[in-house]
Parts: sequence; structure tokens; C-alpha cells
Amino acid sequence: MSSSKKSSTDQSQHTHLNQSWGGRFNEPVDAFVARFTASVNFDRRLFRHDIQGSIAHASMLCEVGVLTDIELEAIIGGLEAIASEIESGEFAWSIALEDVHMNIEAALTARIGDIGKKLHTGRSRNDQVATDIRLWLRDEIDAIGLLLSALQTGMIELASIESDTIMPGFTHLQTAQPVTFGHHLLAWNEMLERDFGRLQDCRKRLNHCPLGAAALAGTTYPIDRNHTSTSLNFDKPTENSLDSVSDRDFAIEFCAFASILLTHMSRMSEELILWTSAQFQFIDLPDRFCTGSSIMPQKKNPDVPELVRGKTGRVNGHLVSLLTLMKSQPLAYNKDNQEDKEPLFDTVDTVRDCLRAFADMIPAIEANKTTMYEAAKRGFSTATDLADYLVGTGIPFRDAHEIVGKAVAYGIAEQKDLSDMSLEELVQFSDQIKNDVFSVLTLEGSVAARDHIGGTAPVQVKAAAARALEKVSSR
Ligand code: ARG
Repeated sequence: MSSSKKSSTDQSQHTHLNQSWGGRFNEPVDAFVARFTASVNFDRRLFRHDIQGSIAHASMLCEVGVLTDIELEAIIGGLEAIASEIESGEFAWSIALEDVHMNIEAALTARIGDIGKKLHTGRSRNDQVATDIRLWLRDEIDAIGLLLSALQTGMIELASIESDTIMPGFTHLQTAQPVTFGHHLLAWNEMLERDFGRLQDCRKRLNHCPLGAAALAGTTYPIDRNHTSTSLNFDKPTENSLDSVSDRDFAIEFCAFASILLTHMSRMSEELILWTSAQFQFIDLPDRFCTGSSIMPQKKNPDVPELVRGKTGRVNGHLVSLLTLMKSQPLAYNKDNQEDKEPLFDTVDTVRDCLRAFADMIPAIEANKTTMYEAAKRGFSTATDLADYLVGTGIPFRDAHEIVGKAVAYGIAEQKDLSDMSLEELVQFSDQIKNDVFSVLTLEGSVAARDHIGGTAPVQVKAAAARALEKVSSR
């Protein structure tokens, strides 16, 4: 909601002294400076959480006897009416009132009179904004956690379905050993599982209430910080007032989470793009996730994964913005911090969109099993299995490696996979090779033999998928 439905920003107020802090000023703020320093065009997005924080603050002031019950009632009624007005798009935002906090406070006073001016007792916009962003980001983290879980669920279910679908596994993007498609999908899920953990870590450290720090040093009123903290569902009040108003670690940490998540999703995207290409043809993506070309009629481009890969750049950029914003900032609050919002908002929006796109797309992947299987047969993917077989006959691994290398060279010359060679051909390389070698050289034998926790054997993949699903559904 960075721009309002109607252009409601009131330019005419530039000529007035600011009613919130104009007391010591002799001339109004320059019109350009007012626009340059204002944040209302983007921080209005925090309005619900600003009002939530104000109601908690006012309730605490009443509890400790700074506000009367009647005053509290008027303030809460006024703030709730303002919330509805903003929701309905009727609220007139004013650049002259700088930010979401002063717009709402001025509207409250306009609505309920002088009682409205008491709301700011014992607080500052510095602890107010620190609280608002935490409350806002906490809700976003919870929504993103749900999206991430939805994506993981679809991915794990597909992995279970594809637990015995054989494909080539790669190192250096060269065929290495056969794996199952389900195993590959579960590798992706492990990345996302750690991302989910990072998101929860961020939420834990974010969940301390800065209200009461006021401008920087605390306040002389008999405030009850536990009261506000509890009523806003924070774990506890922050420990140090200077740190409370200047800390933006939680925003940086969230952006770091987002950067790592998008880095993971860019890796998945890259593989999806490769796999849909005419050269691989491992998978098909349904048409609804792709677009065509205006000039080449045959094209079906994997736009969704390409865009997700591209969006990693802007999310990484936002992380660097926030780190640079905070670098060398002296204590306590500095106006620099107003610049935290747009990168953070855009990071949240981008992460949400990317997760939503992936959560829809991943379960819709169609595996071309035959193509995957044929690809796994090329590239001597069971060479390690033959070496392991020879080790089983008592040959040291290094010697076995050498023997198989020779067999592979023969296969390249004859254009034959190891499993396509006859026993006579194979014994040229070692007389230890017997008829039972063929069960080892098949792709099925190769994957089934990796039968341990974390291995690619279909039974292990099924079991791992079940464990992963259990983890996600018990959140
Ligand atoms: N709009 C400001 C921000 O986003 C609110 C805090 C302003 N505090 C101040 N002392 N000027 O950071």
C-alpha cells in the first residue's frame, strides 16, 4: 500500500508550522524539505500496528494513573474510528505531518479534542516506530512461515511420489551417479527447512518490546513496561533504552533470511530452467507458469523460475542497503533509520510473491521419467558401483578405481555403457568380475544400494519424505 487509492496527500499544509514540533521554529519547513524528509507515503503501511501500539501505550498510561478511564475510552474510540477511515480509503494523509505517527495523532486530536494530545505522554516517535516495525514484521514473518510450509508440503509430497524415479545426479554439472528425483527434491526441502529455522530465530530476537525507551533515555512517568510488552504479545521489554530506539538488527536479520531463501530458490530455479530446456527435457511445467515469445512461435519460456532467479538480485540489494544504512551509525536514533522501511517492505513483498509462485508451481511439475532414466544411463553413472563391487572381492579401492577407469575408456571407444557390456568384455579388466555384477551395474541396483539415512535408495527417500512432512505439519 505504498500509494493511496486517491491522491489524498494535502500539499497546502506546507505553509503551516508543524503542530507536533513547531514550537521552537520561526519559519515553516521548506516545501521541498517537507517532501524530502516525509515518510508518510510509504510508512502509512504501518498504520494498523501504529494504532495497535498506541492503544497498548494508552491502556498502560491509564493503568498507572496517567490517563483517566474516560480519557482512555476517548482515545481508543478515536483510534479505532481512524483505523476504519484508513481501511476504507477515506483518510486524508498529509505530507506536512511527515509520517504515519503524526498523521494519526493529529487526526485523533481533530476528532476527540485535547485528550488526543495526551496520547504521546511518555513516548517518542523513536520508540513508537521501533515498536511498529517489529509488530508489522512479526505478522509478516508468521504469514511467510505459512507460505514456506505450504511450499515445503507440496515439495515433500512430490518427492514421495517420485521416490523411485531415477535421474542422473550431477557434480560439476557432469553426470556423476544415479539418484532419484525424490531425493533431489528432498535436498531442496532441506534448504527450505533451514530457512524456516532462520525465520523463527529472527522472530525470537525481534520479539522484545521497545516501548518506554521514549526518545532515547526512557521517561520520567511511572510507566509499566511489562504491561505494554505483554499486551502486545512481546516476550519481554527491551533491556536498554538507547539500543531500543536504534536497533534495526531484526530488519537486517530478516533480509539476511530473505537473501539466503532467495539464493536457494534461485538454485532451484536454475535447475528447473535447465530441466525444461530442449537439451534436458527432464520435466514439463504446466503452461500457466510459462509464457510464449512474440516472434518465435515454438517457444515456451519458464518465466516464473527465471523471475524468481532474477528477484534474488533485488533482495540481496536490500540486505546490503540495510547493512550500509546501519554501518557507523552513532547511538541512538538517527533519521537515517527512516530509510529502513522501503527495502524491508519490498523484501517482504518479493519473498511472499516468490513463495506463492513456487508453492503453486512445484507440485505441478511433471517428470519425464523415460528421459531422466535414459540420461542417467549415459555418462557411466554406475562406474563407482563397479569399483565398489571390485572392493567387495578384496581389491583395494585405488586399484579398483584404476580398473574401472580402463573399462570406462573402453566403453567410450565402443560407445557402450558398463551395463551394456558382456561378461567377456568386463573380465578383460578384472577376472574378479562375475555374473552377479549386472545387478550392481543397473541404475535400480545403484540407487537401491545407497540404503542408509540420507541416501538415495527409494525406501530411504520414502522414509525421509515421511519424516520431513511430519516436521512441517507439527509446526
Ligand atoms: N518517520 C520516522 C522513522 O521512520 C519516525 C521517527 C522519527 N523520529 C524523529 N526523531 N525524527 O524513523
